[in-house]
Amino acid sequence: MGKILVTGGLGFIGSHTVVELQSSGYDVVIIDDLSNSSIDVLDGISSITGKKPEFVKLDLKDKPKVEDFFKTHSAIKGVIHFAASKAVGESVQEPLKYYENNISTLVYILKELQKLPSASFIFSSSCTVYGQADTLPITENAPVKKAESPYGNTKQIGEEIISDTCNVSKNLKAISLRYFNPIGAHESAKIGELPIGVPQNLVPFITQTAIGIREQLSVFGNDYPTPDGTCIRDYIHVVDLAKAHVIALERLLKNDNKSNYETFNLGTGKGSSVLEVIESFERVSEKKLNYKIVGRREGDIISAYADTKKANEELGWKAQLNLDDALRSAWKWEQTIRE
Ligand code: WQD
Repeated sequence: MGKILVTGGLGFIGSHTVVELQSSGYDVVIIDDLSNSSIDVLDGISSITGKKPEFVKLDLKDKPKVEDFFKTHSAIKGVIHFAASKAVGESVQEPLKYYENNISTLVYILKELQKLPSASFIFSSSCTVYGQADTLPITENAPVKKAESPYGNTKQIGEEIISDTCNVSKNLKAISLRYFNPIGAHESAKIGELPIGVPQNLVPFITQTAIGIREQLSVFGNDYPTPDGTCIRDYIHVVDLAKAHVIALERLLKNDNKSNYETFNLGTGKGSSVLEVIESFERVSEKKLNYKIVGRREGDIISAYADTKKANEELGWKAQLNLDDALRSAWKWEQTIRE
């Protein structure tokens, strides 16, 4: 079935995708620079699947090292590219770090793939490319709006680089997967989200508050034009997301793609407000969450949730797990790592 390269494969979504790839019989090699992940995740993966993926510690900004890697790994049939910096707030403070790390690495990998007889490329993109969409739910045809952050801009630019490259490379075909809000953890609680420092995202902040690491959750605003005044997002279980990556890769490996470059939204199709997430967490954890309403966070959009029709019909993929399932798994993971 050929070897699949997963860059950023020790990260949150990457590690869950490696598990699904191995479970589907693929031979996986991971590249990770360990800048935002732990080598212990490798044991977590192999403890689930019984197979230890090949691992290469490599900074993809090092072009000669990327070239050397592909010289010794010519059997690669497909690449799932997660490796990137992804903190929205940090990207505003350090734009060049984001443009260098997220764009130059993508270019170096694509240049190597162009040399292979054929290559299938899956790009980790984000619903952030839509900004605040004018129409909900959001379809893949929604206009890409001016990015609200350098991070979001690197996803927009990345998609354009891939599309332009696929247009002129007969041997290369690609799919960009636009994730909504990935949350949760593998049911085994052997892998999950490992935010470094104070979590920026809602769900890890909730679970760290519930376990006592954080004093109190701040809810960023309840004066939005939504039913309960808090922002709405489409929270998708990371395992559903991981399975979609394998399906998208197989679409390319089997030449089922309809064009050389395609995009798919990956969400549940259901929007949940911050207060609804808190209520769901309290129900599944049977714990009262300590939170307070504070002012809005700069750059937050009001509401975003996916129109999942294209992924349902073209990929034959639909999210199987709901918000309670995801929060239950996130809580089990938090409890496990703090034991
Ligand atoms: C969700 C909601 C916050 C924290 C970001 C990136 C996106 C993707 C996912 C990488 C919002 C509220 C949050 C807190 C809160 N990342 N919130 N208190 O901003 O939708 O998406 O992460 O690909 O690209 O933009 O996710 O989890 O930060 O926020 O009230 O302590 O929770 O205001 O309404 P977001 P989030």
